[in-house]
Amino acid sequence: MLPELLTSIPGPRSKTLAAELRAHESRNVTYVSPGFPVFWDRAHGVNVWDVDGNRFLDLTSGFGVASLGYTPEPIVHATLDQAARLYHAMGDVHPTAEKVALCRKLSQLTFEKWDLGPGKAILTNSGSEAVEAALKTAFLATKRRGVLAFTGGYHGLGYGALTVTGRSMFRDPFSAQLADFATFLPFPDCQHCPFGATAREPAACLPECLNTFLVQTENLLRKGDIGAILVEPVQGRGGEVVPPGWFLPLLRSLASQFGALLIFDEIYTGFHRTGRRFACDRWMSGPTSSAWARRSPADFPSPPAWAAKKSWTRRGPNRPAKRSTPARSWAIRWGAGWRWPHSRCSKPSRGASAWKSWELTWRKACAGSGPPQSAGAGRAA
Ligand SMILES: Cc1ncc(COP(=O)(O)O)c(C=O)c1O
Repeated sequence: MLPELLTSIPGPRSKTLAAELRAHESRNVTYVSPGFPVFWDRAHGVNVWDVDGNRFLDLTSGFGVASLGYTPEPIVHATLDQAARLYHAMGDVHPTAEKVALCRKLSQLTFEKWDLGPGKAILTNSGSEAVEAALKTAFLATKRRGVLAFTGGYHGLGYGALTVTGRSMFRDPFSAQLADFATFLPFPDCQHCPFGATAREPAACLPECLNTFLVQTENLLRKGDIGAILVEPVQGRGGEVVPPGWFLPLLRSLASQFGALLIFDEIYTGFHRTGRRFACDRWMSGPTSSAWARRSPADFPSPPAWAAKKSWTRRGPNRPAKRSTPARSWAIRWGAGWRWPHSRCSKPSRGASAWKSWELTWRKACAGSGPPQSAGAGRAA
């Protein structure tokens, strides 16, 4: 349905609620100004209604969370059914069948599809946790504490994820408390070249950029302390920055050469948000990579998951990494309430909705109707 505006925006009820929120919520959470925000009341399909009865067209699909649209019937039913059957479980003690199905499907969808054997999943509560699970695995697998991350990269606000986030706005207030295991290199952004080139055409400055990047990265990796390379295949909050084509394959090859895990954070880009199932598919030939994260395609609270190729998860603290093994791990933002390493596995209803979301997304993609419609690559706030 087309938008229908009944009041000024934000409407009077939104304004009243904004004043109340300012009074009762920490001011560091919701941005409030005289013209913002609009308080939402409900949503369906591509439409959102605010508390003043105005109807909007959502061009962001909730930062890509609701890429199947709001309240798709099968997901609502799966959620309600599960809530009526079993709302809370101690999933790491008494798991559900849905958990098995979801983990198996994630493995089939990734490592098995890439002929790399089964993958193993950790279903987590947020993108930060998925990233942190990947970092922990890299450390356990390689025994090396260092992480190579990129300027402009965003990986979440938990202390671990913040440590590898290359955005001063988020890091600076807490820099005194952050650990020092991350080293940041410039993300190759052809529109704002970090190496000082002025040509906006990637081909024109390729050798300079690639060489500078290669030398910097090799010098860092040669020191032998880097156990993980963490990167967004397309930087989201960094400004929708698409790197040049050589970037990810080069990281893949350097990670393999120096025995580091290559972690792709696809929380922002995963599952069709860039037109491919994963953004990295655009550049990597096949399944040679790494770390994934995603938002569930439905709007039910849908926490993420992390998973790794089996051989990496087996390599615990007592199993030294083989330095020559190519690094492969991945994290998938998905649904279900499991934590790691001390999981409570709380909400089967989340698993049920995530499972249904996946089914719908996948069927839609397989039916040749193209990728599920994300209403737009809305830039996260
Ligand atoms: C690329 C990326 N990684 C990690 C995160 C953190 O996810 P969460 O906010 O669920 O912790 C985000 C959130 O926007 C993100 O865009």
